Amino acid sequence: MDRTPDTVAAVDWEAHCREAVAAYDAATTTAELEEAHVHYLGRKAALPQALRGVRDRETGMTLNAGRRTIEEAEAEARTRLDRGAVAGDYDVTLPGEAPRRGRLHLITQIRREVEDVFLGLGYEVVDGREVETTHYNFDALNFPGWHPARSPGDSFFLDETRVLRTETSPSQIRTMEERGGPPIYMITTGRVYRRENVDATHTQTFHQVEGLAIDEGITLADLKGTLLHFMRAIFGPERRVRFRTHYFPFTEPSIEPDVSCFLCDGAGCSVCKHSGWLEMGGAGMVDPALFEFVDASAYDPEKVSGFAFGLGLERIALLRHGLPDIRLLWANDLRVLGQF
Ligand code: DAH
Repeated sequence: MDRTPDTVAAVDWEAHCREAVAAYDAATTTAELEEAHVHYLGRKAALPQALRGVRDRETGMTLNAGRRTIEEAEAEARTRLDRGAVAGDYDVTLPGEAPRRGRLHLITQIRREVEDVFLGLGYEVVDGREVETTHYNFDALNFPGWHPARSPGDSFFLDETRVLRTETSPSQIRTMEERGGPPIYMITTGRVYRRENVDATHTQTFHQVEGLAIDEGITLADLKGTLLHFMRAIFGPERRVRFRTHYFPFTEPSIEPDVSCFLCDGAGCSVCKHSGWLEMGGAGMVDPALFEFVDASAYDPEKVSGFAFGLGLERIALLRHGLPDIRLLWANDLRVLGQF
């Protein structure tokens, strides 16, 4: 015999609903609210069960009305508790926990700054490659066979003909080949690799900026003016630049540029080792032999001339920020890198 109607009839649903509403009103935690839900509206609760077995319309309407009442009580309780949680559990006026913001590595910042300076002079920024052939890294740059950089003791060779570039200068050759003739005003920036003993001023991977200007009538004075502009942009408007003679296989004449010390302005201090000057890299007039290697008809050494330079980005960073050790730039210590 089906006893559901009797059971349904036997329950005082009004009292049941009052009890439910009171339970929801009394709930002070989400756990209590969930408990009331299980008890009055859950799958096994009396009223929903009764609703499932209902046969006559009248009882159905009564039970449905009761369920709505209970559901409303539940919604109210939920809103009340949610609001209470906001007001009671935490103080919305306290400053939030700011997510830690990342930032660009100091070398990346300097690289971009350097690129900006030369873009401002109308130079292009071109990409080079880190794995080079010995042709581009040495031969086409006029490196003599005996040059120590050609030995596995100084450079990282992948095999007989491939090497991790030891400088950004190979991009001079690649750019001249690609452009097929003057004018060229380009820089390239990136990593270079040398088998160094690592110490406070040497790492086996570091960054350079390489510049190349090829046109008719370019002189050493243009090189000096360009580097002066660059040094002033990086180290301040009062800087002076001087050239010392030097040797590089791919420039003739070759020089090393110095910039007057930005800290003491030449008077002598610990940054410039009391010389008043800071050594900044290498430069010179492009050796006509390079034009011959690339294409002497496109770059006629009688008409075309150019200058080139190569500077270390780490050196700029160390000098400008007074960093005592180049390895700090590679240690990934946020206490250091976070300062820039
Ligand atoms: N490649 C040289 C080095 O790594 C730097 C350099 C010197 C680059 C003279 C040049 C240059 O373009 O003309 O030591």
